[in-house]
Amino acid sequence: MTSTAAGPLRGTAKVPGDKSISHRAVMFGGLAVGETRILDVLTGEDVVRTAEAFRALGAKVDMDADGTWRVRGVGIGGLTEPADVLDMGNSGTAARLLLGVLAGHGITAFMTGDASLRKRPMGRVTKPLGQMGALFTSREGGRLPLAITGKTEPIPIEYELPVASAQVKSAILLAGLAARGATSVIEPQATRDHTERLLRHFGADVIVEDLNEGGRRITVTGQPELTAPEQPIRVPADPSSAGFPTVAALITPGSDVTLPNVGLNETRTGLYTTLKEMGADLTIANQRDEGGEPVGDLVVQASRLNGIEVPPDRAPSMIDEYPVLAVAAACAEGKTVMRGIGELRVKESDRLAAVAALLRENGVTVEDGEDWMAVHGHGGPVPGGGTVETHLDHRIAMSALVLGLNADKPVRIDDGGAIATSFPNFVDLMNGLGAKIDPA
Ligand code: S3P
Repeated sequence: MTSTAAGPLRGTAKVPGDKSISHRAVMFGGLAVGETRILDVLTGEDVVRTAEAFRALGAKVDMDADGTWRVRGVGIGGLTEPADVLDMGNSGTAARLLLGVLAGHGITAFMTGDASLRKRPMGRVTKPLGQMGALFTSREGGRLPLAITGKTEPIPIEYELPVASAQVKSAILLAGLAARGATSVIEPQATRDHTERLLRHFGADVIVEDLNEGGRRITVTGQPELTAPEQPIRVPADPSSAGFPTVAALITPGSDVTLPNVGLNETRTGLYTTLKEMGADLTIANQRDEGGEPVGDLVVQASRLNGIEVPPDRAPSMIDEYPVLAVAAACAEGKTVMRGIGELRVKESDRLAAVAALLRENGVTVEDGEDWMAVHGHGGPVPGGGTVETHLDHRIAMSALVLGLNADKPVRIDDGGAIATSFPNFVDLMNGLGAKIDPA
């Protein structure tokens, strides 16, 4: 795929449903009693893996012709042994959250994933889930493929997260659903709280206490009756996916783009705060609440951006957005410094290395260390002309294609296949706004 500088981006575009919320809505529907209806689910490959896994475990997941998903759950503890290996594809969220669910079932299951997921650390979930009584046989470092044998009644624990990770937090809370008594997770910094919000929506008792310096203790009371909500759950547009057309519009002169119904949960909006600090003309219209999540319409106008220092404590609220922020930084005036981003090394690819390579390949100067990166902005178009290695990482692929929209020479990517994991209609949506991305 290749992207080339084109005219302004203009119009309104509906970004696909939030990936984190889509996974959770399907999973919790699968654990609830009754039928959960879900609207605007992300139909990307990652969520399809979650749906397939839940079918293999005995839940029913169907999609109506109008796009509504219907999940008929089995009740907590009601999943049954899968006949084959569960293949979670590219999805860390699907794998880690499902391990939490399985830790609360007295069955054995085998799990694998694609070449990217098989490299990613699973010890961060197998350790606490092991303390709760689950047994694992895995590759070195807890990596996939692995086998898990869960417990009908896991041991409730209080666990302090060594890294700020919503996936690890969620895995423990989901195992805690099957435990007798209270399971608590202490997080050093607030991470996305969709699990907490949505579990409550299904009737679970979840208590959140604020601790010193931005940390939280989250406690779930085990063995609740999860009940399918009466009203359908409407999944907001994904603020992480919306980051790509947002940055594209900011760096393409003359652009004016509206992205309706974007999730604005403050544990997710660090990118937008940062872009505003850089001088972005971003406004939110029509702010409202939908299904327990704040949403609004994002209105983006092309802007002159200035480099800034991004505060490290903002990282959890924009952890997936550093690649596209780095693209904005490359077109900004001056230097942008991002610190405290070591977690980027264990995402779908080593994103710190991949982003630095992406920019250098296209003529942008980058300094980087173990957990930081500084991008020297061009105050306008970058040289471009590079071919970017995407390493099976959707966000590296989309970031590179966004950079090409404000580059002197076209930017190519070696493989756009991974984009389908989170944003299947990315190329059509961008070209519909006026971009020039050649899918060939
Ligand atoms: C996610 C949590 C984050 C994020 C991922 C989705 C989630 O991962 O990077 O894309 O849905 O819980 P970590 O928990 O590893 O930080």
